[in-house]
Amino acid sequence: MHVILTGGAGYIGSHTAVVLAERGHTVTIIDDFSNSHPAAVERVRAITGANIELREADLTDSVAAAKAFAGLNADAVIHFAGLKAVGESVAEPIRYYRVNINSALNVLDQIRERGIKTLVFSSSATVYGDPQALPIDETQPVGVGLTNPYGWSKAMIEQIIRDAAVAQGDLAAVLLRYFNPVGAHPSGQIGEDPSGIPNNLMPFVSQVAVGKRAKLSVFGDGYKTKDGTGVRDYIHVMDLAAGHAAALEHAQAGVTAYNLGSGEGSSVFEVIAAFEQVSGRKIAYDVAPPRSGDVAEVVANPAKANRELNWRTELSLEQACRDSWKWQSQNPGGYLGSAQETP
Ligand code: UD1
Repeated sequence: MHVILTGGAGYIGSHTAVVLAERGHTVTIIDDFSNSHPAAVERVRAITGANIELREADLTDSVAAAKAFAGLNADAVIHFAGLKAVGESVAEPIRYYRVNINSALNVLDQIRERGIKTLVFSSSATVYGDPQALPIDETQPVGVGLTNPYGWSKAMIEQIIRDAAVAQGDLAAVLLRYFNPVGAHPSGQIGEDPSGIPNNLMPFVSQVAVGKRAKLSVFGDGYKTKDGTGVRDYIHVMDLAAGHAAALEHAQAGVTAYNLGSGEGSSVFEVIAAFEQVSGRKIAYDVAPPRSGDVAEVVANPAKANRELNWRTELSLEQACRDSWKWQSQNPGGYLGSAQETP
């Protein structure tokens, strides 16, 4: 298949590009580099040896979107592009809705106009809000009691895709609800490169390990969980990338949602311990009050994806910590740091 990856230079997109190229698909990346670097695409090319086309475009602009899709004759689109920082979305809701919704609308226009029949959308477990029952399966309500515009934008785009698929009857759309993506490509060549202070646990922990940040704040140790800290379902980004390939290859007409998670919950203290073990570094931390909007426990039931996509996670939390550490220690300044070091 020829697959367009919007946001393909980003964390999940770049790892998915590697897996798709290695499975023999043709990959074209469209990105505006607002939160990513062209160097990531260079490294995907180096890892895979594949000839991956890169088009720079702001997909919130309908004219630019049409230009970016022109002449590609693609079979499928994976729509990763979007803003994803939860706290920032609370501070700048209009920008979040404008960017995330407009780019999704423009991508859907291009899909319809060009007769593309397969769409995979980067959704999030955040669409379930505070889950009613654990582990979470796809029958749980979506868009109830969400606490931030980022999460709402994901739930809204899911609905927009459902409506678009009714009108475009031959569209096969897959909504992938990611749990907590972590880890990096085992080469250490590509990984998560957050700008500024990381919001998420794993990049923060790896920056403490490498000495870039003094200590981690553990957001609450009084939850009703195994050790009082928040429990999440961490999924290795290479497993997540393989889930996208499986979704593309199994997509059926209509809209289907899948949880992509491991089914295993790990606490913040367990993540710290696993990272300390694989890195040999001490992770300094203190316990801070819970972060607003956080829930105690989020764990996937991935049975539907296991069954229908013939996909399951294979890599452990330890492996994810090892690969994150490799990426972080080889690229302490992220992509930009390495670009500056290269003469
Ligand atoms: C967050 C977002 C979610 C988004 C996901 C991936 C919220 C409420 N949810 O998920 O919408 O899809 O990121 O981008 O922000 N923790 C600490 N210290 C830290 C950072 C995190 O203790 O410095 C804890 C959190 O309280 C949580 C766990 O680590 O228990 C995981 O946090 P994080 O990596 O931010 O992911 P989520 O909050 O699950």
